Amino acid sequence: MSPFDPTATDPTRRLAPVVRLAPAKLNLTLAVVGRRDDGYHALHSVMVPLGLSDRLSVAIAATGSGDSLHTTGFDPGPPADNLVLRTIAAARAFVARARLDAPPLAARLEKAIPVAAGLAGGSSDAAAAIDAALEAWGAAAELGDEERVALAASLGSDVPFFLAGGAALIEGRGERLTRLHGVTAHHGQPTRAGVLLVTPPVPAHTAAVFAAWAGGAMGDPGVVRRTSEHFASEFGSGLSVQALLERAGVLASANDLWPAAAQVVPGLVPLRRALTRLVHRPIGLSGSGPTLWALYASAEEASAAADVVRQAIAAGELPFPGDGEPFVAATTIESGQGRIE
Ligand code: C5P
Repeated sequence: MSPFDPTATDPTRRLAPVVRLAPAKLNLTLAVVGRRDDGYHALHSVMVPLGLSDRLSVAIAATGSGDSLHTTGFDPGPPADNLVLRTIAAARAFVARARLDAPPLAARLEKAIPVAAGLAGGSSDAAAAIDAALEAWGAAAELGDEERVALAASLGSDVPFFLAGGAALIEGRGERLTRLHGVTAHHGQPTRAGVLLVTPPVPAHTAAVFAAWAGGAMGDPGVVRRTSEHFASEFGSGLSVQALLERAGVLASANDLWPAAAQVVPGLVPLRRALTRLVHRPIGLSGSGPTLWALYASAEEASAAADVVRQAIAAGELPFPGDGEPFVAATTIESGQGRIE
């Protein structure tokens, strides 16, 4: 049972903060399959949650105050625009319909996931905030699955994925979701694939990247979609870490947004080439970028690769677009339940 049992009647228990981890995601494939009437693009994408996570803590605020948000780590921009505060307000509207009390909340967010990086940290924070707010209000049982998904989808395309947790195929703009087994145990092998993440210090705004795609920065129509469909069916029944690594080259070129991201952030092309030469692995793009990734057999191997990249950065050997420090991390694919209490 969760230490924050929503059925607890002891009022002092509701005063304890509710803590949720909000994992980053990686797109192993991303096919853009068309434009929708609502202006969004229809996707076919296999996504996995990562070990790299933000941490959200939510507590009932003192009477008389409004909702508040304190963030540390990566700067997500002004608090008023933050998706966590918008999520709490939207969740309160749902709870109010059930005539339940939804007092102001004090939220603390430790941002370990870079912002506007293609890792969907903001969307993950929103999914964590839905969960944490409902639990803090003792209202978790009041919102059915359908209502939760509707609330999640209204907050952003990637939010339903994080609400579900685990590896998934997403279609539409993210609202159609099929759970996949993902990485499965295999004799004597680690059950978690390692992932190297390299994020140049320059944002790639999703809207700008989709606009560049719509403006013609796209590859062969249908090629990535066929890869994505084939991989989704394989990953649906589960793949060992080794089998996943054997597909790394195909997956690294299975992102339809690459030409558009490379147009929005031109320095991505030389960086990807240099990283390929440095770590001798296929290098993929997550989402609309600019985060680049490589897959490894274990967290330890990914860590060793991250050290190699950091040394190359210190020696000035990697051509980064943007000003400031690039983000380099080693993490893992978490194919099981994405959200951990
Ligand atoms: O839903 P989200 O806030 O993540 O999307 C940001 C922007 O990216 C949208 O306003 C839209 O312009 C673009 N987008 C899109 N198709 C998608 C997802 C996002 O065109 N499937």
